[in-house]
Amino acid sequence: MGPNPLVVDVDTGVDDAVALAFALAKGANLLGVTTVAGNVPVDIATRNTLDVLAWLGREDIPVHCGASRPLVASYADATDVHGGNGLGGMELPASTTSRATLAGPAFIIQCAERFAGELDLVAVGPLTNLAIALNVRPQIASQIRRVVVMGGAYSVPGNKTPSAEFNVYVDPDAAQQVFNADWNDITLLGLDVTHRTVLARELWARIPGDADGAAGLVRGATERTFTERGKSGFYLHDPLAVAVALEPDLIQGTQASISVEVTGQARGKTSASENGSGPLVAREVDSERFVRELCQVLELPTMDARAGFENPE
Ligand code: RIB
Ligand code: CA
Repeated sequence: MGPNPLVVDVDTGVDDAVALAFALAKGANLLGVTTVAGNVPVDIATRNTLDVLAWLGREDIPVHCGASRPLVASYADATDVHGGNGLGGMELPASTTSRATLAGPAFIIQCAERFAGELDLVAVGPLTNLAIALNVRPQIASQIRRVVVMGGAYSVPGNKTPSAEFNVYVDPDAAQQVFNADWNDITLLGLDVTHRTVLARELWARIPGDADGAAGLVRGATERTFTERGKSGFYLHDPLAVAVALEPDLIQGTQASISVEVTGQARGKTSASENGSGPLVAREVDSERFVRELCQVLELPTMDARAGFENPE
């Protein structure tokens, strides 16, 4: 019994790129990648995803371009964090592969139908594509085996505003629709846990400058974080989502119904009411085990994951 078929929805972005590298290094059965407007406009996210897959020697994996803007709210990017090109300024060789013709939401629907009961989906950008797919074909909620979302901030401050995490902030309406759907199994990884998973500058500095493959991607894409932005650590938001899809016991959480503020000052704020139903909201993470495994599979130098970080990204 091989790994379950997997689709990853991204807004590539630096940590999205590392998440894709991690998925491939772990031997995930990656059917395809769908892209959405988030960190950068969707055309840049699509270009980046094609180039990252080519860099990793996996141009065979199709990239399906999705939503170019949120369902209702105004679009906001995160180029301050990810750089204008979305990859921290790292210039990858251009892939010779074009984006797939089928749009992102349609690809999600197609895979849910074709791999009903087996498909896992990891969403690490704004949830616009998943919400569109749900609206067009509600039965994907029962066809998709497991959904893991990087999104929200449930008992900690936000990173886009004091109360909102970026992915949910960008498309709060989509997030509310996804969180309300009756999925077989959905896990939400908020900043509550992803802020405890950090790539330390000391580790980054020990990656050889001429590294290629996944290590070279990590080195090049996160360089701006540690140099130009002067950070001591880079949050591994999206790689953690992939890791939890492959190893659910990395986190522990509680089921809760989620409400999302969709407008006003609190746009994107997520509140969890623990009531024994609804999505599993991650509360604890084995960050040491995760960071160690990430370093191992991406062939990065290892170090004590307990090292302190004074001002991560
Ligand atoms: O808040 C962090 C999330 O927003 C990550 O997925 C990052 O890539 C951005 O999309
Ligand atoms: Ca992302």
